[in-house]
Amino acid sequence: MKYDDLFKRIRDKARDVDEVILELIPEKEPVDLYRAARHYPLAGGKRVRPFVVLRASEAVGGDPEKALYPAAAVEFIHNYSLVHDDIMDMDELRRGRPTVHKLWGVNMAILAGDLLFSKAFEAIARAEVSPEKKARILDVLVRTSNMLCEGQALDIEFETREEVAVDEYLKMIAGKTGALFQGSAEIGAIIGTEDEEHIKALSKWGMNVGIAFQIWDDVLDLIADEEKLGKPVGSDIRKGKKTLIVSHFFSKASDEDKAEFLKVFGKYAGDAKGDALIHDEKVKEEVAKAIELLKTYGSIYYAARYAKNLVREANEALTILPESEARKDLELLAEFLVEREF
Ligand code: IPE
Ligand code: IPE
Ligand code: MG
Ligand code: MG
Ligand code: MG
Repeated sequence: MKYDDLFKRIRDKARDVDEVILELIPEKEPVDLYRAARHYPLAGGKRVRPFVVLRASEAVGGDPEKALYPAAAVEFIHNYSLVHDDIMDMDELRRGRPTVHKLWGVNMAILAGDLLFSKAFEAIARAEVSPEKKARILDVLVRTSNMLCEGQALDIEFETREEVAVDEYLKMIAGKTGALFQGSAEIGAIIGTEDEEHIKALSKWGMNVGIAFQIWDDVLDLIADEEKLGKPVGSDIRKGKKTLIVSHFFSKASDEDKAEFLKVFGKYAGDAKGDALIHDEKVKEEVAKAIELLKTYGSIYYAARYAKNLVREANEALTILPESEARKDLELLAEFLVEREF
């Protein structure tokens, strides 16, 4: 298969990164806090962001060993954001397991997220890079985390907004998801080179790939197999998430179809029952109907094409780097991210 070698390399690198992650969050007192913090790292996940750090650094001629702790740092930030995101989205499934707040309660989940966030900076502190590079990496990670919070805040704000323009949506996902991919690629590049053009190219690649990744995530929320995806399907519909797919639909649909769609779309935003509704037959039926409507207007197809075009653009930015296996892996990874089923 096209991606077999890539997957093998992601798995190999993930083993090294996981060692660092688990070293920094051992089983210790308070037991519940550390167990809650280890829950997502132990549950799996694709580990694509740390892979981006390692391969970006190699693609500009760096030593991937030096990038190991920073790679763990971005996975920490990612996992922290997942724990808090699942509280906000009231989702009960992640990486095929019950979510942290479901198992340990919201208060412990907030703390586990906080701990994972703090561990990211501990990982950077331990990185074996020069003080100058470390300061710059910190700068990128701080910018990234700020943007992530801003994006998540917009995501929540948009749930209850009637209309969200495409450029507002793009700004939101650039923050909540694009920034961490951008940061991952940029940090890898900073570790590996002094060449500002190369750093800039990887930064641009990361942002575009991250945006495409989120658009594809929005697609998967509608059409994926829940078992494969490891998280709830249809969640964005119940919560009224303003995605590119939904914008496209609203710009094309008849009033009648819009009214039909709105029977379920956003009806459970901020609803305390959260995912319990997944099992409600009436809600299930309404969600299925809403997804059919999105298909009828080609809205899902539109978003999928949009994501694939962004990846093409992203990979063009890498052509200024010398050819290498690492660069090839980044290009292939980007393609995979907008074809994946999980
Ligand atoms: C999920 O990210 C959160 C988003 C930004 C959409 P991933 O799809 O990378 O989640 P894992 O790490 O594989 O579980
Ligand atoms: C998540 O967006 C972005 C972050 C976690 C920062 P989503 O809310 O769509 O992610 P999933 O689908 O729950 O993974
Ligand atoms: Mg979510
Ligand atoms: Mg969310
Ligand atoms: Mg999603």
